[in-house]
Amino acid sequence: MIFITGDIHGEYDIHKFSTKNFPMQKLLSRSDYMIICGDFGLIWDGSNSDRWWLNWLEKKPWTTLFIDGNHENFDMLESYPLTEWNKTQVHQITKHIIHLCRGSVFELEGKRFFAFGGAESHDKKFRKKGISFWEQEMPNSQEMQHGRKTLEKFNWQTDIVITHSLPQHLQEKIDDNYKSNALTKYFDEIDTKLNFKFWFSGHYHMSASLDEKHFLVYHNILQLTDNSFTCIYSQAD
Ligand SMILES: [Fe+2]
Repeated sequence: MIFITGDIHGEYDIHKFSTKNFPMQKLLSRSDYMIICGDFGLIWDGSNSDRWWLNWLEKKPWTTLFIDGNHENFDMLESYPLTEWNKTQVHQITKHIIHLCRGSVFELEGKRFFAFGGAESHDKKFRKKGISFWEQEMPNSQEMQHGRKTLEKFNWQTDIVITHSLPQHLQEKIDDNYKSNALTKYFDEIDTKLNFKFWFSGHYHMSASLDEKHFLVYHNILQLTDNSFTCIYSQAD
């Protein structure tokens, strides 16, 4: 089974994974996947709290896959060795917690995924570089080109897109104060060229459908089914 959820922000929004909130976990194994759409936040300062919650998550019966959001310690994240998982490059955080690098394409249960993390922090001016904000939150042009080249290899055909930020035309639908940036413009391009069924994003701290193909996830947990998905847990945002 494959599940998708939004930001966990370290220990702050991880409680959706408690047995009480997500009782179905008793039926899961390591070949079931929980995909987190960015703002993982458990690789933050290497504190006891980071270690305790990473250990808590590692002990869950599934395998966790996450993309980076904007609230990650990128220096620390990049210090993990790059390795190959499911024919794509990842950072192996623990045995069953995996960071999907930007531009990854991989297949699970017969579905093809495209994953591309990163986003621009709207509160950058209140944050400190290297302490609570890292410039790598915004993908560089090589990473974007890597995404294009990888999709080209797959003839721009996929099933599921996992991102933190949205394409600009959808970001504006939520709030026209969200300014465009290189990444939201890039996602506009991907959105036009790519053939996909569903696109899931975190970042906006809302659980919502924007149209028939684009969905925001936050406190909800979605389970992918053969041709669609179903919400198996939701909590007010
Ligand atoms: Fe967030």
